[in-house]
Amino acid sequence: MADHRQIDFGHNIDSFEREILDDINDKLEPYIQMSMEERYYLNGIVRKAKPKKILEIGTALGGSAALLLNATRNIDGAKVLSLDYSTQCYIMPEKQTGWIVPELFPELAKRWEFHGGGCVCQYLEGGGGGFDLLLLDTVHSNPGEFLNILEALPYLKDGAIVVLHDTSQWTTWGKELQCTNQILLSTLKGKRILFDDAACPVIPCIGGIVLDKIDHDMLWGLFTNIALPWVNSLPYIDYVTLARYFDQHYDRDLVDIFKRSAIWHRQRDLLIAEVRMQNQTPLLERQHGLFSAMIQFIRRIKSKCRCILTTRKL
Ligand SMILES: C[S@@+](CC[C@H](N)C(=O)[O-])C[C@H]1O[C@@H](n2cnc3c(N)ncnc32)[C@H](O)[C@@H]1O
Repeated sequence: MADHRQIDFGHNIDSFEREILDDINDKLEPYIQMSMEERYYLNGIVRKAKPKKILEIGTALGGSAALLLNATRNIDGAKVLSLDYSTQCYIMPEKQTGWIVPELFPELAKRWEFHGGGCVCQYLEGGGGGFDLLLLDTVHSNPGEFLNILEALPYLKDGAIVVLHDTSQWTTWGKELQCTNQILLSTLKGKRILFDDAACPVIPCIGGIVLDKIDHDMLWGLFTNIALPWVNSLPYIDYVTLARYFDQHYDRDLVDIFKRSAIWHRQRDLLIAEVRMQNQTPLLERQHGLFSAMIQFIRRIKSKCRCILTTRKL
């Protein structure tokens, strides 16, 4: 396999070896959550780079997993590992996540492995790593993929390719809160794999990059992304799992940004719940309640931060 940094992906990688995807495209159509152009782009990158180990995070019905397996069908020893937060397919709850791979593409399924249920980092630990390519396509709203990328990075090869889906959800689909992958793609540093997608008014809704060496500066950007506003809250069990995992793989100053953000957002959620309750009480009492809730909020944050810093010193 060639050094990805030496590959010339050109500006129309979406037209490279389309016929490989065309072999399964009709069968794939009802199940994949990517437009035709996005599929050709991903297929072209895989055909050009010839990765042996592919990691997919965000599987749904299994459409993109089938595409990846098909694109690597004549690459000796190529394997795809798909991971998802849920074992139950979120679009068809009566089916397992990724179900179309074994049911509709049994000849491809021999080179496929799937794990699901909770934070995906649990399935990466002890799994060997050395992935040549990552396809990341999960929540698209914060913190979503900001956390997923930090789960995956320790297991990617030097100079791995990262492909992010749904990178222009605002200008293409009007979804203003789904900006996570657009920010993430801009934060990652490396050689960008560009193409034009006429269906997208500003930038394509899929993007790829051949990663530079991961240094503290790049990680700083990736961790500080987590401090942006969250649309989704993080279950406590996930917080614990991720905090432990990040502690093992990253420097303390970086992991503290994650911990502080998670604590801040939890406190904010509690404050909002308290204010909602206050709204059911008379005005004067309500103003007093809001004021004291804010004071308590600031005090809690201060004491949690003090607690983290004290734990660090121990
Ligand atoms: C947009 S769908 C993936 C579509 C698929 N890549 C395709 O193109 O056919 C998003 C998937 O991400 C999963 N997901 C959501 N949050 C996640 C998380 N924190 N970690 C891993 N997977 C997650 C969902 O369960 C869902 O199956």
